[in-house]
Amino acid sequence: TGGLITLDRGFKNTGSCESAITFLDGEKGILRYRGYAIEELAENASFLEVAYLLIFGELPNETQLEKFYKDIKEESHVDEEMKKILDGFPKSAHPMGVVSSLTNALIAFNPSSVNVESEEEMYKAIIKILAKFPVLCAWALRKRTGQPLDYGDSSLSYVDNVLKMMFKKANEDFEIDPVVSSALNKLLILHADHEQNCSASTVRIVGSSHAGLFASISAGISALWGPLHGGANQAVIDMLEGIKEDGGDTKKYMAKAKDKNDPFRLMGFGHRVYKNFDPRAKIIKKSADDVLSSLGIEDPVLDIAKGLEKEALEDQYFVDRKLYPNVDFYSGIIYRALGIPTDMFTVMFALGRLPGWISQWREMRLQKEPIGRPRQVYTGETHRAFVDITKR
Ligand code: SDX
Repeated sequence: TGGLITLDRGFKNTGSCESAITFLDGEKGILRYRGYAIEELAENASFLEVAYLLIFGELPNETQLEKFYKDIKEESHVDEEMKKILDGFPKSAHPMGVVSSLTNALIAFNPSSVNVESEEEMYKAIIKILAKFPVLCAWALRKRTGQPLDYGDSSLSYVDNVLKMMFKKANEDFEIDPVVSSALNKLLILHADHEQNCSASTVRIVGSSHAGLFASISAGISALWGPLHGGANQAVIDMLEGIKEDGGDTKKYMAKAKDKNDPFRLMGFGHRVYKNFDPRAKIIKKSADDVLSSLGIEDPVLDIAKGLEKEALEDQYFVDRKLYPNVDFYSGIIYRALGIPTDMFTVMFALGRLPGWISQWREMRLQKEPIGRPRQVYTGETHRAFVDITKR
């Protein structure tokens, strides 16, 4: 249309929507879901309460929460045929690829969840994905560990059922460890939403074409996989392990992180919005100490992480660029203590982020947002005539 196009790489200064779901203040390190401080929710709420809060805007009362979970339990079966798709993957397949594929495959077995237009149809699709996604995540883990698939136990809470589906060994009793249950509940709450991050924006833009909730979530999973986004939690542990193998010389890696010619980045550090401490990192760091001490685990990687953090907070390069630990810096240490393999960490992030993606998708659809279609600044060739191949 010839209007002035403002180029904003990475949308650093572009607001893509109006949203009432999550509030961030990057300078003050504030994070609130529907007005509630993350610190209070992490301490007092269940993950399912927070999921309800994000999606519908209010904390549920007991009746509402009971019905919500009842509806979810009724949808928690995954079609047996889906196992054939899971079987098709090699054991070495990265769980994020498995889970994003299976989430898309769910569409074929739940065709009514595609063209959802009414709030009631949206609710049904939302319940289905909340119910089935944890099963797919557990299947991805069981595939790696060689354990038979487990269908869970609806007498357990949403989070405890995840633990059972993931960790109950065949023909062994399974006890829920309250320390593990409370740590996972807190971690999932802390990951539940984060306004217009890369994966939430992906869910919104895919959903804006009315491609359906499952397809939008699957796209969000793929966006989250990247090491600059949710994949950082796996990259942090790989980095810390590498430093440990290399003699624990954190100063050497701090120098590498500052060397422009060295592609090495201090994974788990820095954030597009937080220019102060990521409030989630503070809570997770404390929880890591609590979980490891109550499980009686000594993890040298935690000490390396703390050493790096201390050095970075005193280093001018990091201070100038306001680089602080983010949500991914300590979370992997807890996942590890819970017995979750490293390449499943980002799947755990996706499990936590699911209600946030759903809430962003629902808000976008209810607001009847137009299809997302940004413009560009063209820098290519001016007009030129075709040249026959014999003359090229
Ligand atoms: C998540 O958006 C969200 O909210 C995401 C998330 C969520 O909940 O959804 O919070 C989850 O993704 C957390 C971030 C996880 N990613 C990492 O930990 C990867 C390491 N971090 C960086 O790649 C980076 O900090 C980002 C991706 C997080 C932010 O990138 P930006 O905002 O585009 O910043 P940038 O890359 O332009 O960096 C600014 C400066 C640069 O130096 P100069 O060119 O100005 O000299 O800071 C430097 C960068 O080189 N820098 C780092 C660094 N991060 C930024 N230098 C060393 N190590 C780092 N980690």
